[in-house]
Amino acid sequence: MKQLTSINELNTEIHQYKHLGNTIGYVPTMGYLHEGHLNLIEAARKENDIVILSIFVNPLQFGPNEDFDSYPRDIKRDLELAAKCGVDLVFSPDVAEMYPSEPSYTVIVKNRVNVLCGRSRVGHFDGVATVLTKLFNIVQPNRAYFGMKDAQQVAVVEGLLKEFHFPIELRAIETIREQDGLAKSSRNVKLSEQERKEAPAIYRSLTIAETAIKNGEKSKDIIIEQMMKSIEQNTSGTIDYIEVLAYPELQDIEVIKGKVIIAVAVKFTNARLIDNITLDV
Ligand code: PAJ
Repeated sequence: MKQLTSINELNTEIHQYKHLGNTIGYVPTMGYLHEGHLNLIEAARKENDIVILSIFVNPLQFGPNEDFDSYPRDIKRDLELAAKCGVDLVFSPDVAEMYPSEPSYTVIVKNRVNVLCGRSRVGHFDGVATVLTKLFNIVQPNRAYFGMKDAQQVAVVEGLLKEFHFPIELRAIETIREQDGLAKSSRNVKLSEQERKEAPAIYRSLTIAETAIKNGEKSKDIIIEQMMKSIEQNTSGTIDYIEVLAYPELQDIEVIKGKVIIAVAVKFTNARLIDNITLDV
């Protein structure tokens, strides 16, 4: 497995792959890899000649009071895991390589961002779309792999690929969970022991909602109320949002019908956790 930190060197490598007629599957990450990331790598491995993983904690997508500095990092361990999973090349640039100066051009996302994480993390998806535009241009993949754990990110990337005519196929891959249901996340290590015990209540609230909907509940307000109660009773966290929206448009709905997403964000002392399920009702 190769590891490169320079865009120039990566360009040469990509040129070579393309020249030989190889297809490229690309998994963008911020590192501190867990089974959610590894599952994306596995999916990419199955349908491409070359698998490229990027590890870059992108400052542009963190707000001033967010956890850019304390975001967990362990490149040595990440490289070992990537090699084991059959990654061909890891691209791990530093901030100066990706942003040699204050960016003069950024991507502004206008659609699908006035809800969920976009509402509480203003500018976050502009940062995501900007770095991905750069990374897609650098890596030039045939397919890019994203996790449904960040369903709003998937919706935003889908729009980005379409509107900017990137010849890249988007693959959205299911959420990988711990045994107790907690969605795997690099940020889970920032929970205290007590918070870690409470955190599975987030997914449990989603399963409560799913069961109620399957049993015929159509009212969004009743679902949200039930979830709120369950999270408040079982965790010390603060609910950032609980929303039920049409998916992938992320538009408001009156009654629960068709393709919907139920999404939740809860703030603990040092970590804000998100989770969601999508249903076809
Ligand atoms: P990061 O949080 O490292 O996530 C990288 C990819 O892994 C994303 O597509 C995310 O949805 C997926 N992922 C995370 N946890 C998952 C889980 N439990 N199950 C399945 N997939 C999971 O998302 C980012 O990085 C950044 O915003 C990035 C796209 C790299 C742009 O900077």
